[in-house]
Amino acid sequence: TTIWKVQSDASSAHPFLTEAGSWIARGRTVAFPTETVYGLGADAGNTVAVEAIFEAKGRPSDNPLIVHIADEEQLDALARHVDDTSRLLMRAFWPGPLTLVLPAKPGAVSPRVTAGLSTVAVRMPAHPVALALIRAAGCPVAAPSANRSGRPSPTLASHVRDDLDGRIGGIVDGGPAGVGVESTVVVVEAGGSRIRVLRPGGVTVADMRRAAPGVEVTVETAAEEAFAPRSPGMKYTHYAPQGKLTLVQGEPGEVAAYIRRTLAEAKQSGERTGVLTTAERTELYEADRVVRCGREDDMEAAARELYAALRQFDEAGITLIWADGYTASDGIGLAVMNRLNKAAGHRIVQV
Ligand code: TXA
Ligand code: MG
Repeated sequence: TTIWKVQSDASSAHPFLTEAGSWIARGRTVAFPTETVYGLGADAGNTVAVEAIFEAKGRPSDNPLIVHIADEEQLDALARHVDDTSRLLMRAFWPGPLTLVLPAKPGAVSPRVTAGLSTVAVRMPAHPVALALIRAAGCPVAAPSANRSGRPSPTLASHVRDDLDGRIGGIVDGGPAGVGVESTVVVVEAGGSRIRVLRPGGVTVADMRRAAPGVEVTVETAAEEAFAPRSPGMKYTHYAPQGKLTLVQGEPGEVAAYIRRTLAEAKQSGERTGVLTTAERTELYEADRVVRCGREDDMEAAARELYAALRQFDEAGITLIWADGYTASDGIGLAVMNRLNKAAGHRIVQV
């Protein structure tokens, strides 16, 4: 696996990006930074190349990939039709952390990208290196997050190396990703009058309500997700550290008391203990590993730090983890809670 180190604002004229782009054009896999997390890219039209992504990640083949573009004109070749509400969202949030599920033009991308669905998920990332690489490749780039399937998504090139070294062609190291959690995935329904959020992310529900007044915005509930996931990826265990994670919620004092008690018991029985919590609350715990993630009043910081924080528990061989301090229900906090819930396999204790 070749590593190309570039500045976070490198252009497609950069010799490393020209080279990395030509690797994609020739059917190889290249990981690259985006403003959300690192992606593992391949030519979306090349089935062999796309299969190499699934192979490298150990990803189930029924989980479709997002297609990344650098210019809105590239959309014409991918989508059969773009409704006015989707168009409005693109104008408001592209380039940026929003993925739109659109009716696919038959044959536009490899059937392995769409996993046989009649729709295609498209986004234009707001990262100079990602845009430059897509332009250098000269084709739409299929790219899931560049982690081994089930592991936390990578927010640094070193995370990609930890998971995929030797399994992929190259890694463009452009420094830390931005938002820290993946893009918001939406589909527009009901003749343009409803935006359904399939995966919360960097573009919030409030952002979309503001951009599309009069259009209803709904969020797929956990129950709907479990029953018949509209976004196939949401049914898999995700973002999970190797240790067993439990989310603890309730009155802050009682949460701390509960965690301190169960943690002491777990230590006694030989577990390696970890606590994930906000800056304000790290002093409350004496675990083998206390990892700080965000601040109570700063869920954007929590989003940025979440995946790197989860990876730290694995590095320390932690077997049991409690998460304390995460109760947000809107803004970027919705995405943080969605990922934490998944990392915990929906293990939530109310005290
Ligand atoms: O921020 C992101 O979106 C990152 C960066 C690399 O761009 N990518 C990413 O890709 O998170 P991935 O593969 O980890 O997640 C893609 C999600 C999955 O939940 C998948 O099921 C959903 O998008 N998806 C892809 N195509 C779809 C489709 N046609 N209909 C519904 N959901 C789709
Ligand atoms: Mg992923």
